[in-house]
Amino acid sequence: MQKSILIIGACGQIGTELTFALREKHGNENVIASDIREGNADLMASGPFEILDATNYEAIENVVMHYEIEEVYLMAAMLSATAEKFPMRAWNLNMNSLFNVLNLAKEKKISKLFWPSSIAVFGPNTPKDDTAQNTIMEPSTVYGISKQSGERWCEYYFNKFGVDVRSVRYPGLISWKTLPGGGTTDYAVEIYHKALEEKQYSCFLKEDTLLPMMFMDDAIRATIDIMETPAEKIKIRSSYNLAAMSFNPSQIAKSIQQHIPEFKISYAPDFRQQIADSWPSSINDSEAQEDWGWKPAFDLEKTTHEMLKNLK
Ligand SMILES: NC(=O)c1ccc[n+]([C@@H]2O[C@H](COP(=O)([O-])OP(=O)(O)OC[C@H]3O[C@@H](n4cnc5c(N)ncnc54)[C@H](O)[C@@H]3O)[C@@H](O)[C@H]2O)c1
Repeated sequence: MQKSILIIGACGQIGTELTFALREKHGNENVIASDIREGNADLMASGPFEILDATNYEAIENVVMHYEIEEVYLMAAMLSATAEKFPMRAWNLNMNSLFNVLNLAKEKKISKLFWPSSIAVFGPNTPKDDTAQNTIMEPSTVYGISKQSGERWCEYYFNKFGVDVRSVRYPGLISWKTLPGGGTTDYAVEIYHKALEEKQYSCFLKEDTLLPMMFMDDAIRATIDIMETPAEKIKIRSSYNLAAMSFNPSQIAKSIQQHIPEFKISYAPDFRQQIADSWPSSINDSEAQEDWGWKPAFDLEKTTHEMLKNLK
């Protein structure tokens, strides 16, 4: 018998592609997508969907019982740039949604749980290059504080209650199927859309802002791989560093110019520059490589090729 999976926040940038990937693997009927809003037409047509508020424990419990859910992927969150504008709403959503699913697992109503953390757990005092799994963190954004707290709670629920929770610290994610949802690395998606539509882009980060990034296919593969790894191999129950590539706005512009020579970039940094400046430039993910065999497949060149080909 196939296991039943629930994705909460399934209509966002990651959730949409994760839903398709899990449906492909486990069968459409066995993967229940949910969100507080409807998703794109392809997602809605591809299998079961429930309107669900991640901050409502009873509502999640009802869906879990109804579909006999075994695994939950919690993708609902308020992202870094938006969270700076609505700090208390971000804290409420990011923390209470996590407690809801951790408590469902503690009560043995689900058996396994994925919750994503972020490179935003690091802060201005973190060593910037090749940032280690265990290092100074001290996040300086509302979002980063919620992710770091979330990591501590995940580890606590594993140690105290044996909750099988798994997590990765995603870098900035680049995708073409769904637009990003209000993060600091959104520029690396917008730039491809603008390059094709207008042959120019005004970037909200400075040209030399080097950040860790990843193409969505790699992120989805990492997510599914860590969930399929035997529990005893998952040594880190807070969240694993995860890396693929690092680039700055000037480098991504150059890679686009290889395909669209007339493309021009200009720079108008806004409040997101300060967030970006507090994050690492590159990430050391040797623990993910060793513990569950992580290896990225997409570099900047391949990412640009995929983005332009699919957005055209
Ligand atoms: N995209 C990235 O670059 C990135 C990087 C690091 C970490 N992450 C993390 O990955 C996860 C998913 O990110 P994303 O980029 O897909 O975000 P997104 O903003 O694109 O999607 C989030 C989804 O959650 C839904 N949502 C909001 N409030 C909800 C609620 N109360 N109940 C149910 N659903 C609700 C939204 O409607 C949206 O569809 C988040 O935890 C995020 O912090 C993302």
